[in-house]
Amino acid sequence: MHANLHQRRQQLLSQLGDAIAILPTAPEVIRNADAHYPYRGDSHFLYLTGFTEPDAVLVLDGKRGRSLLFCRDKHPEREIWDGFRHGPDAARETFGFDEAYSIDELDQRLPQLIGDHQALYWPVGRVAAWDARIGSWLETARQASRSGRDAPARYGDLLSLLDEMRLIKDEREIAVLQQAGRISAAGHVRAMQACRPGMNEYEIEAELLYHFVRHGARQPAYESIVAGGANACTLHYAANNARLNDGELLLIDAGCEFMGYAGDITRTFPVNGRFSAAQRDVYEVVLAAQLAAIAEVRPGAALDAPATAALQVLVRGMLDLRLLSGSVDGVIESGEYQRFYMHGIGHFIGLDVHDVGARRPGGVWRSFQPGMCTTIEPGLYIRPDDRVPAALHHIGIRIEDNVLVTAHGHQVYTDDVPKRIDAIEALMQLHH
Ligand code: GLY
Ligand code: MN
Ligand code: MN
Repeated sequence: MHANLHQRRQQLLSQLGDAIAILPTAPEVIRNADAHYPYRGDSHFLYLTGFTEPDAVLVLDGKRGRSLLFCRDKHPEREIWDGFRHGPDAARETFGFDEAYSIDELDQRLPQLIGDHQALYWPVGRVAAWDARIGSWLETARQASRSGRDAPARYGDLLSLLDEMRLIKDEREIAVLQQAGRISAAGHVRAMQACRPGMNEYEIEAELLYHFVRHGARQPAYESIVAGGANACTLHYAANNARLNDGELLLIDAGCEFMGYAGDITRTFPVNGRFSAAQRDVYEVVLAAQLAAIAEVRPGAALDAPATAALQVLVRGMLDLRLLSGSVDGVIESGEYQRFYMHGIGHFIGLDVHDVGARRPGGVWRSFQPGMCTTIEPGLYIRPDDRVPAALHHIGIRIEDNVLVTAHGHQVYTDDVPKRIDAIEALMQLHH
């Protein structure tokens, strides 16, 4: 167990005061027949416990300042089939809980625990079955209260408290995120080196996944996008089964999940290793927009500053490329740029690839603070259109990096994979 787990639980306990909090992990999900999706615990639960088994519930007892885990018992026969289970005793020891019990004791113990508290927090409204089950414990506690015991009179949403905590990464999270970023970046380098005209998109996907798994990141953080040519203009392209043609670009948006934390990188490069003139023109606009946006990431800057900076550069570029006519301000005002750039500049990243944390609490943009992690990912996507120069049709380009806010600025920790045109061409030339 690492010390940060204990610290996070203590921090939440101190915010809870004399309230009690209940946090179940995620269920296993069937894929078909007897096959399951790879199991992935709830991110909030993993953040507080480090405990990766299913069928577990964390209870934080604010009144006594204690953390309790309910988990699966040891089960010699099931362990022969499905593998190791900690069981409550080993889980308590290993993960530093004050108490641990069998998950089978949940319905028996929770009404009484709840009844000892004035206030109850849980992820309200997230999973209907848990709302109902917690409601039934509450009802049991209320019935008991008629015979002298209290029941909570105040209820709150646990998610908003945890979202705020997770927004600022601690030093351990930063180290793991950086490692996820490094593995993801090296996967992209491998993909660039392997790419040849005539290959299929899924062959390149295999290079990425090979590198991720080979380095202990057993799952991608999200479905990889490996989009050759016109497919790059489909923002969430998932088929990954088309031929990669000479003269086209390849857009890869892929990142691994390492120890629960996500990487999320996009690179766009020529299938044959050399940018054409038209590809180069569009690429330089997107790269300039990305660099302008990254330059805005520093403590105290408003969270929308990167988006504003990127949009100026992208729209200027759209006018220069004759995708649009008019003035920069006019095109921003009318929203016409959305024909070619229709998504946000980025998102927080952490345990979830689109990580938690309100960007605009109460309608006001918050500021960057040290320990926040965000992606910066502008793009241009040019679908065929009579109004647009034919040489640019089907070009889709996005460039995405992961950026940590530091004490005085930022650190781009996914830049092991090149993004300047000369650096990409040099890397690919070496391998062609
Ligand atoms: N790959 C998902 C995203 O870039 O947000
Ligand atoms: Mn991405
Ligand atoms: Mn992203």
